[in-house]
Amino acid sequence: MVIYRAADYASMSRKAANIISAQVIMKPDCVLGLATGSTPIGTYKQLIEWYNKGDLDFSRVTSVNLDEYKGLSGDNDQSYRYFMNHNFFDHINIDKARTFVPDGTDPDSEHACARYNEIIREAGGIDLQLLGLGHNGHIGFNEPGSAFEKETHCVDLTERTIEANKRFFEKEEDVPRQAYTMGIKTIMQAKKILLVVSGEDKAEIVKTAFQGPVTPAVPASILQLHNDVTIVADEAALSKM
Ligand code: GLP
Repeated sequence: MVIYRAADYASMSRKAANIISAQVIMKPDCVLGLATGSTPIGTYKQLIEWYNKGDLDFSRVTSVNLDEYKGLSGDNDQSYRYFMNHNFFDHINIDKARTFVPDGTDPDSEHACARYNEIIREAGGIDLQLLGLGHNGHIGFNEPGSAFEKETHCVDLTERTIEANKRFFEKEEDVPRQAYTMGIKTIMQAKKILLVVSGEDKAEIVKTAFQGPVTPAVPASILQLHNDVTIVADEAALSKM
């Protein structure tokens, strides 16, 4: 596990974007696993800037996102599909037909998740998976207690996650209670993992996840067992390490 200490959010974002750029340059037809949340927004902005300068070409890239709220369609501005289009895909030359997000509109959880697993397999697996970190140690929407051996599945969101996400919705009742997420097994099968984390409010969970025991109680702790993980974090997030 390599930990890059960045001075601040901007520097964290640049470092993470550098790692993703290197992947795209070395393997133009790579499969990028992408993430939502506020943390990677700066990374996407940086990639867009370099793309606009002519330094990056995403035309042969395939992307698979970690998760999607069950019940939200891509035109709902709180869906993760909308987030990805708005924060990244609409600004680069990626072929939208090769950008995948679990289908939140499919009410049949088993079908939606099996289909997503198939998409990932057909793409040839994930070359580089970008991850954020939830305050309770969740990755994607794998909440504490999630079995490590799961692939894409439907989850009930915890109260804490619903609480953390409600700032994006008009009313708390509008926050979906379930989501489709890649499982820990799917994430661990990625060839490389890049986790971005920023801010003092994440310092405690960073320490617990990466210096504490590997346990399903802290989903991100499993990353200690992956052989190619890079954590890019700012000083604030690393202040307890
Ligand atoms: C959501 C997403 C996660 C993300 C987490 C942290 O729950 N499903 O993938 O990592 O939020 O978000 P933030 O980066 O905004 O702290």
